[in-house]
Amino acid sequence: MFKKFGSVISLSIIVFVAYSQQPLFEVSKEKIKLQFSLDKDGAPFYAVLFNGKEVIKNSSMGFSLENDSLFYKNFKMLGNDKRSVDETWKPVWGEVSRIRNNYEELTVHLQHVSGKLLDIVFRVFTDGVGFRYQFPKQSGLRYFIVKNEFTQFRLTGDHKTFWIPGDFDSNEYNYTTTKVSEINNAPVVTAATDIAVRTVTDSFSVQTPLMMKTSDGIYINIHEAALLNYPAMQLHVDRMNFILSSNLVPDAFNNKAYLHAPAHTPWRTIIVSDKAADILASKMILNLNDPPAIQNISWIKPMKFVGVWWEMQTGKSTWNYSDFPDSINSKGQPIPNGKHGANTANVKRYIDFAAKNKIGGVLVEGWDIGWEDWFGNWKENVFDFVTPYPDFNVKEIMIYARSKGVSMIMHNETSGSATNYERRMDTAFRFMKKFGYPAVKTGYVGRIIPRGEHHDGQWMVSHYERVLQKGMQYHIMIDAHEPVRPTGLQRTYPNFMACEAARGNEFHAFSNGNNPDHETILPFTRLMGGPMDYTPGIFKLKGYAVSAPQRSFHSTLTKQLALYVTLYSPVEMAADLPENYEARPDAFQFIKDVPVNWGDTKVLEAEPGDYITIARKEKGKDNWFVGAITDENARHTAISLDFLTKGKKYKAVIYADASDADWKTNPEAYSIKKITVDNTSKLELVLAPGGGTAISIMLIK
Ligand code: NOJ
Ligand code: CA
Repeated sequence: MFKKFGSVISLSIIVFVAYSQQPLFEVSKEKIKLQFSLDKDGAPFYAVLFNGKEVIKNSSMGFSLENDSLFYKNFKMLGNDKRSVDETWKPVWGEVSRIRNNYEELTVHLQHVSGKLLDIVFRVFTDGVGFRYQFPKQSGLRYFIVKNEFTQFRLTGDHKTFWIPGDFDSNEYNYTTTKVSEINNAPVVTAATDIAVRTVTDSFSVQTPLMMKTSDGIYINIHEAALLNYPAMQLHVDRMNFILSSNLVPDAFNNKAYLHAPAHTPWRTIIVSDKAADILASKMILNLNDPPAIQNISWIKPMKFVGVWWEMQTGKSTWNYSDFPDSINSKGQPIPNGKHGANTANVKRYIDFAAKNKIGGVLVEGWDIGWEDWFGNWKENVFDFVTPYPDFNVKEIMIYARSKGVSMIMHNETSGSATNYERRMDTAFRFMKKFGYPAVKTGYVGRIIPRGEHHDGQWMVSHYERVLQKGMQYHIMIDAHEPVRPTGLQRTYPNFMACEAARGNEFHAFSNGNNPDHETILPFTRLMGGPMDYTPGIFKLKGYAVSAPQRSFHSTLTKQLALYVTLYSPVEMAADLPENYEARPDAFQFIKDVPVNWGDTKVLEAEPGDYITIARKEKGKDNWFVGAITDENARHTAISLDFLTKGKKYKAVIYADASDADWKTNPEAYSIKKITVDNTSKLELVLAPGGGTAISIMLIK
């Protein structure tokens, strides 16, 4: 739909029009409506309505460029284009097997008083709006520097907001839930001593995806899609007027982006619904990313994995082989500390465990020399990514893993030195091919090199993309730790299996852990951009004594199981030690059974910060898996199994919190019940405080 401003009648639009001198464009798609105008100064504005009510009030757009600080006003309209798209595509892997991409598109062609051209493209979906700026090829604008982007999101009230600080280097915070007017990240940043690198220059800035709820029950999610060759967009919060403004991550010169026309920004995304479940089900961000360039993707395989990892996180073994970088004996050889986890015998033990339990992969960290002083010194050349410690026999491990049908997962920790990684990437990827590693977990702990760059700035955004491209070239799957938070790029790069870019389960091992509501917020925030390597599945939940008093995980055991369903990823770690799984084979059965690739997903109930219940269907099979989690409060709910195929019988195994389970006092208590169900069945679920329920529902043939 496309209307001229004179034909618009609703009250909110009359107010809007009062200071709009120019034609008004409107584009609607069911409940969502987008408005665009130029004001009397030629400044572009947009607004978003849901069910006829404003959710984003008339908000400014535009830039300050290095040689044109007023590139946000004095525009005139040259014309516009519109089109409708309705297509369906099949992701290589994901939460569903088919995705509908259905939108109305409006492109406005603007010309600045300086003569420069700017296009703004809007895509209006049934669940929200995406827009991006395009700088067409033109003689008056070739190479240019973005000093600031002025995109605003003017909110209609003091919404409840789930936020982490707008940090240029880390996403690894617990979420804070406050009203917009109460956002102040300063105390949060100061208290977060468990995060290695924190760079927050604005106490009133927050990270995206930002999840909000209005007082009348509308859910609004703001993020971005297809972040490439541009810095991440964080949001500055005007607490008095409820205005969020784009705050791009700068480089050392306080420049934001270096572009060469034709160029475009990522999509700014606003997802809106009156149902929280719809936010989780939205595919808008994926749809705003381009399809993959390469069709040969048979090498990309979702998998579960175990790892020589948790034993280091919990202090049982070490990443480093020697205690100190200068621990050298008289023959010049490194002196072992006797606790090195990545030794051949131990790795074989994990391979045996994976093979026995049909777990596809084994990750090994601390296998390569350099861990004695791996981060904290802003050192450029730490690792070479190809030289193992003397007790790690790469060839023997390759042959052993192959004989057991297990894939090895490489670990390339860069300790933030992206320059070092770039120089050695080809060698590193060739090494992976040679020794049978189809996947790599990368890592960026520490301050970034090139010095002055941030994890979330344009240079690093392009670095992460170059790693994905390298992976496509060598047929290697990527799981990045400490990168910029994702923006749906897994559509374009289906080898981008997962990343961390949030506070993972590991924080329970070395800090005060994650709040019990953490995993009820993550799907509404960080996971909106793509899968997370959260590392669920910890069974030993007591006795992590990093801080006094001795404390437990902020989770029960069956909540750890439910996370395999509620936190989607095509690579899921069974993160605990093999011996802790062997001690509880009945509960471990769920991890063995749960798939990592899905044909369908139903978000049964959800409320950010409180609870999530999701049912997913195994891809290509008629088996279903349900995960239900709660925050610190116990929860009693009932779910209907009406999604099952009519007339079929299924065996359901219900892994539930024991009646006396509690994340604080009794996190490991669970019960397992087996029943026969069909599509008329209803199940009562009782979740302990900090608890969860996991259910496998397998077709009886
Ligand atoms: C931080 C990662 O999140 C963690 O998984 C890894 O073990 C360490 N860095 C070491 O690379
Ligand atoms: Ca991390």
